[in-house]
Amino acid sequence: MRTILAVETSCDETAAAIVNSDKQVLAHKILSQTEHKKRGGVIPEIASRAHMEHLGGIIKGAIEKSNLNFCDLDAIAATSGPGLIGGLIVGTMMAKAIAHAAQKPFIAVNHLEAHVLVIRLLYEVKFPFLVLLISGGHCQFLIAQNVGKYIKLGETLDDSLGEAFDKVAKMLGLSYPGGPLVERLAKKGDGTRFKLPRAMVKRSGCDFSFSGIKTAVRNLVQELKMSEQDVCDVCASFQECVSDILLDRVKNAVAMAASLNIKINDFVITGGVAANNFLREKLKKHINLNILSPPNHLCTDNAIMVGWAGIERLEKNYIDPLNFAPRPKWELVEPLTAKLGGE
Ligand code: KG4
Ligand code: ZN
Repeated sequence: MRTILAVETSCDETAAAIVNSDKQVLAHKILSQTEHKKRGGVIPEIASRAHMEHLGGIIKGAIEKSNLNFCDLDAIAATSGPGLIGGLIVGTMMAKAIAHAAQKPFIAVNHLEAHVLVIRLLYEVKFPFLVLLISGGHCQFLIAQNVGKYIKLGETLDDSLGEAFDKVAKMLGLSYPGGPLVERLAKKGDGTRFKLPRAMVKRSGCDFSFSGIKTAVRNLVQELKMSEQDVCDVCASFQECVSDILLDRVKNAVAMAASLNIKINDFVITGGVAANNFLREKLKKHINLNILSPPNHLCTDNAIMVGWAGIERLEKNYIDPLNFAPRPKWELVEPLTAKLGGE
C-alpha cells in the first residue's frame, strides 16, 4: 500500500490531501479563495499571494489530520500545470522542497489528468473510457487509454464552458463563480423563452464554440429591464442551449471513438461544470452509455484528485526530477490529427 501527499494550487483553491492506494482519503484540507468573488473572476496575483500565505498551514493541517509524518509517505505530488503560473510555482516548489527534505519521490501531476482519473478512485472504471472534461479552464473530449495516454477528440475553439457560465453570470449581475448560481436560478426559469444560438450543432467533429451565446446574452441584457424572472429565464434558456450543444457533440464523440475502433463502455463527465445536475441528467437521459461523474466536491478543484492521479502514476513508476518546471500550458495529449497522421 502506498500513501501520497498532494497539493493543488493551479487556480483559486489552495488544497492538500493524503490519499492511499487502497482508495482511502486520510485527509483533505481545502481553502476556496473568496477574494475573487466581488471582482467577477480570478486575479492571478492575488491568487498566488493567497496560496503563499495559506499552503503551509493547509499541508500541516492535512498531515495532522492523517496522523502520519512526512517519513510515512511514499511520494509527494503537486499540480504542476496547466494553470496560473504563480500558483503552480507555489505548489510545485513546496512539494519539491518536502520531497527533497523527506527524501521521497516527487510527482508532477497534470491537472487535467487529475480531473480524469479521480473517477477511478470512486468506481471500477476500466480503460479505455470516454471523457467530457468541462471546467473553468478547459472544455474537451478525450479517450483515456491508460495513465498518461490520452487521445483528444475535440475541444473548444474559444471559451471553456465554465468561462461561459461565469461570463453569463457576470452579465446578469451574479457573483463569481457563476456556474452554481446560474444552475440555481435556472430552476425557477422558463428555458424555452429565449432561443440562444446552438453553435457547431450538426457540424462534423466534436469541437465547441461558446462565444456566440455570450454575445446573445449580452444583447438580451441590453434589451430587457432584467426583472428577477428575466434573469431566471435567461439562466434556464442558457442551460437548455448548452445541453443541446453537449448532446449533439457527445453523439459525434461516441461515433469518432467507434471509427477509431475503440470500444467505449463508460462515459465520464468531469471538471467543475460536471457539478451541474441539469446537464448531467439531460445527458444521462439521451446517451446510451454508462455515464459517471464524481460527486460535486470532486468535480470542482480539489487535492484528492491530484493525490489519486499521483498514486496512479506512482504505481507505474512515473516519477519526476526535482528540476521539473511548472507548465502553465500543458497539453494532456497530442491532437487527434497527429495520431491519425493528418496535418
Ligand atoms: O474544475 P474547476 O473547479 O476549475 C478549473 O479547473 O477550471 O471548474 C470551475 C468552473 C467555474 O467556471 C464554475 O462556474 C464552474 O466550474 N461550475 C459550475 C457549477 N459548479 C462549478 N458550472 C455550472 N454548474 C455548476 N453547478
Ligand atoms: Zn480544474
